[in-house]
Amino acid sequence: MADQPIVLGIETSCDETGVGIVRGHTLLADTIASSMDEHARFGGVVPEVASRAHLDAMAQTVESALTKAGLRFADIDAVAVTAGPGLAGALLVGVAAAKAYALGLGVPLYGVNHLAAHVAVDQLEHGPLPKPCLALLVSGGHSSLLLVPDVAKDVISLGSTVDDAAGEAFDKVARVLGLPFPGGPHIDRAAREGSGTAIAFPRGKADDGTLDFSFSGLKTAVARYVERSGAGVSVPDVAASFQEAVVDVLTRKALEACARHGVEHLLIGGGVAANSRLRALAQERCDAAGITLRVPRPGLCTDNGAMVAALGATLLEAGAAPSDLAIPADSSLPITTINV
Ligand code: KG4
Ligand code: ZN
Repeated sequence: MADQPIVLGIETSCDETGVGIVRGHTLLADTIASSMDEHARFGGVVPEVASRAHLDAMAQTVESALTKAGLRFADIDAVAVTAGPGLAGALLVGVAAAKAYALGLGVPLYGVNHLAAHVAVDQLEHGPLPKPCLALLVSGGHSSLLLVPDVAKDVISLGSTVDDAAGEAFDKVARVLGLPFPGGPHIDRAAREGSGTAIAFPRGKADDGTLDFSFSGLKTAVARYVERSGAGVSVPDVAASFQEAVVDVLTRKALEACARHGVEHLLIGGGVAANSRLRALAQERCDAAGITLRVPRPGLCTDNGAMVAALGATLLEAGAAPSDLAIPADSSLPITTINV
């Protein structure tokens, strides 16, 4: 519908400068500048390098999103930005830019939660979110199970990782296997040539009755196995067996959470949701349990600006109050705070 508000979304919580533009739940543009190439040789994201790269990329990423959407600045009705959680310096660049755009254009500002945005983005692909839904968010920075009665108003944390995030485990195991950073896609690819049952790696916290995760024991078990095997190690088998251990626990706990809370819709988001085995096993187990699975396409699972714009549009639609222009960037913003 042409009369729905046009929202510009800015994401800078990690290494991606993401700018998205939506009209209501319709995606008009999703532009990304990544500084990953500058971090790869360090084997992880370097916060100061990321902040500088955001600063360099911001204005041109916004302009190319506008061009792609065929819009002008004057068409923007609101600006949304990731206010946290994330890297403090990186967040600051996005928040400062969003304030400047909102002030300059005379439109409201919405400072939003990065995790809630990972949930809201699915609406761009699969329509309005069922209320409630259960969300499994798995990325390099977070592994969380969330009960989402209403993504504009109420998000409840049911469990999270007690040590490494799922994506972090993929990245660390990839390093042990001599695969490049970020490791998730490389493990995914290598695993296709291997067997997920070749090695019985531990399933941390799988049967402890909580909805929390732990991946550091698994990571250590893989490192020990690789060390013991020496030159004879089968990278595809280790990759597949490690991946199977991660996705087994993730899907088991996600379905357990659905059962406990009587929720019939599971959404998976975050970079690890791009994992082919996670998508396949989640589908299989959801089908068996009568749960409807929603997973955005991989480009919307990894960090992007469209997810921020999507949450901004949802907040506008719900009549949420805009943010004060004095809002801070909050690197440890709790998931229960959807907008600041
Ligand atoms: O959501 P994201 O882009 O950024 C963060 O907020 O962290 O997630 C990045 C993470 C990295 O750890 C990366 O290795 C992982 O997502 N990842 C994958 C796959 N694609 C990306 N992990 C497993 N399988 C994949 N196909
Ligand atoms: Zn993320």
